Amino acid sequence: MKWGILGALDAEVDLIRSKMTITSETPLFGTVFYEGTVGREQIVLVCCGVGKVNAAVCAAAVMNQFEADCIINIGIAGAMAHGLKILDIVISDEVGFHDQDEVMLKYYPKRAFFPADSSLISLCERACQALPEMEHRWRRGRIVSGDVFVNDAAVKQSINERYTPACVEMEGAAIGHAAYMYRKPYLVIRTMSDAADDAADTSYDNFIDEAAHTSASIILKMLELS
Ligand code: ADE
Repeated sequence: MKWGILGALDAEVDLIRSKMTITSETPLFGTVFYEGTVGREQIVLVCCGVGKVNAAVCAAAVMNQFEADCIINIGIAGAMAHGLKILDIVISDEVGFHDQDEVMLKYYPKRAFFPADSSLISLCERACQALPEMEHRWRRGRIVSGDVFVNDAAVKQSINERYTPACVEMEGAAIGHAAYMYRKPYLVIRTMSDAADDAADTSYDNFIDEAAHTSASIILKMLELS
């Protein structure tokens, strides 16, 4: 199985790149697609950049040109659900867009939410269970994405009223949508860097590295267990 792994920021992919035996580097779209292995698993890894279009275009390349069998998006997010704390982890049950008018659903996509792959969810749950430091820190849930950094309590409330997500970020739904179009299994794993509220900017700066590292260590454990 060849794993496609995408993160929007260098901080989100650095740990995985450092653990990879890299066999090729392909510059494309202003970024680099790294192919290689972690243990016995084949990997294609890319830092896709922030936002839905960067994520969708890189996800398409990972599946089409680099022939990944599945696609995993790792990184950080803003916590939306009650009780979800900074550095807690959300494993996607499904992803959707929070910045899409409902009229879009008349044309495309064919559905509002894209379900994540159940085998990848199970493997991710086993990985979290195998990491003692993750105990009581992870849950499954809906993840919503949009081309906006949510750092305003009123915007947070509006998204919560419309979508009741576990967390919010800027790429997962685009990757889930692309995976749906390519009929490939996908999963999003996000660790909370902030609470998508008025304090989000400072919290993001303080926790980005630890949160990004957490999501990356979970996929590394998944690769080990698979
Ligand atoms: N990624 C991390 N925190 C976020 C937030 N508050 N909004 C959007 N994307 C994020």
